[in-house]
Amino acid sequence: MSLLKLMSERYTCRRYSSEEVKEEDLLKILEAAKLAPTAHNNQPQKIYVIKSKEAREKLLTDFPYNYKAPCYLVCAYDELRLGEKLFNENGEIDVAIAITHMMLMAEELGLGTCWIGNFSAEDVRERLRLPKNEKIVAVLSIGYHREDDRPSKLHFINREDDELIIYL
Ligand SMILES: Cc1cc2nc3c(=O)[nH]c(=O)nc-3n(C[C@H](O)[C@H](O)[C@H](O)COP(=O)(O)O)c2cc1C
Repeated sequence: MSLLKLMSERYTCRRYSSEEVKEEDLLKILEAAKLAPTAHNNQPQKIYVIKSKEAREKLLTDFPYNYKAPCYLVCAYDELRLGEKLFNENGEIDVAIAITHMMLMAEELGLGTCWIGNFSAEDVRERLRLPKNEKIVAVLSIGYHREDDRPSKLHFINREDDELIIYL
């Protein structure tokens, strides 16, 4: 599929089938996170795979968005890998690019994803006992679309081109 078609067909999945994510698909998705460009090639991204019942229970207790996906990826960066601070801090940007790669890879494999950003990163870090130098940026839920899954209303709201793109 062409990349543009893939991007236009992707929508956020919030209803998942109970089918497990195939190991070979998960490995390709994780590979996509590895291939993402990072500032100064720091490669600070850390992806925690939450698949087992125990790990899911740990993550999802009090988590505001339990979409009952078979797999969640907790996406963080290691502050200690950022090196000398230049003008900008790039850890979050690096992880955002890695997540975008993973979403598109998942889409190509017929899997749905939801980028979850609205939660307390501190609570999740403590629950999963991640080191303090690792900053969680988002959780990505992954799984196959349930039959009745549909895009949300927000998916269809698009701003006009001339509001987003300005030729100077
Ligand atoms: C940075 C970011 C944070 C998001 N956080 C959440 C979230 O916490 N919960 C949720 O259900 N969706 C979340 N989303 C999904 C957006 O709501 C969704 O991408 C947007 O409404 C457009 O819909 P679409 O992805 O179906 O095109 C987030 C997306 C991004 C990029």
